[in-house]
Amino acid sequence: MLELIGLSLHFGALKVLDGLDLTVERGEVLGVLGPNGAGKTTLFNVIVGVHAPNAGRVLFEGRDLGAMRMWHRCRVGIGRTFQVPRPFSDMTVFDNVLTSAVHGGGLSLAEGRRQAEEALDSAGLTHRIGQRAGNLPLLDLKRLELAKAIACRPRLLLLDEIAGGLTDRECEVLLGILRSLHGQGMTIVWIEHVMHALRGVASRLAVLHGGRIISTGSPDDVLADPRVHEIYLGDAAA
Ligand SMILES: Nc1ncnc2c1ncn2[C@@H]1O[C@H](COP(=O)(O)OP(=O)(O)OP(=O)(O)O)[C@@H](O)[C@H]1O
Ligand SMILES: [Mg+2]
Repeated sequence: MLELIGLSLHFGALKVLDGLDLTVERGEVLGVLGPNGAGKTTLFNVIVGVHAPNAGRVLFEGRDLGAMRMWHRCRVGIGRTFQVPRPFSDMTVFDNVLTSAVHGGGLSLAEGRRQAEEALDSAGLTHRIGQRAGNLPLLDLKRLELAKAIACRPRLLLLDEIAGGLTDRECEVLLGILRSLHGQGMTIVWIEHVMHALRGVASRLAVLHGGRIISTGSPDDVLADPRVHEIYLGDAAA
């Protein structure tokens, strides 16, 4: 579904991505790990067109996205959530999601309303529909991020640390929502530090380090990989 070929990106002298290759299969949930500052969010930003890579290609469903603009990438089927939730705080929850469906997804107002209602239902946020988005507790802010993304009807969903900061119980709620989206056929790439959350749904893991994917495979294989222990889990174990 998604092919990243030889992606490189640098900010001045800082090489964040350095010839990165990664393939995402339709229907899978791929978990992406990597230390702080490894370039995980930057990788998403290249996929969705925030940054143009210095080298390499992004292919989505066989199509080279080249210089395609961000809004267009959303409309061809790539949705994303942000590591730091960014609601329009003074607007209601419903209007936030409607704005996403209409401006991001390119839907008519009538279809946008229908999609917004459906997305809020899928994200378990219907009870907050008329509330001001700026007043939401963290779990509901995460649900809103998710609702905004799925209201655009993506086939590929990119999640950036959506479980970060949640309690174990809140994490379980979120996992239930993600499992259900996956069950409906959504392909998901999920950047996450919360390992037990990732293991609860990811069928494959990929570890980003030094600008490349240094290990990928089943969660058990990747977590047993000595290179992963050294660069990532070593700190946690210590
Ligand atoms: N727009 C930018 N301009 C300059 N440097 C940037 C920019 N965006 C990110 N960086 C730098 O690129 C590196 C990778 O950042 P990125 O946010 O992608 O890391 P990350 O893997 O998502 O980290 P975290 O786990 O903390 O979210 C960092 O050193 C960061 O400071
Ligand atoms: Mg990040």
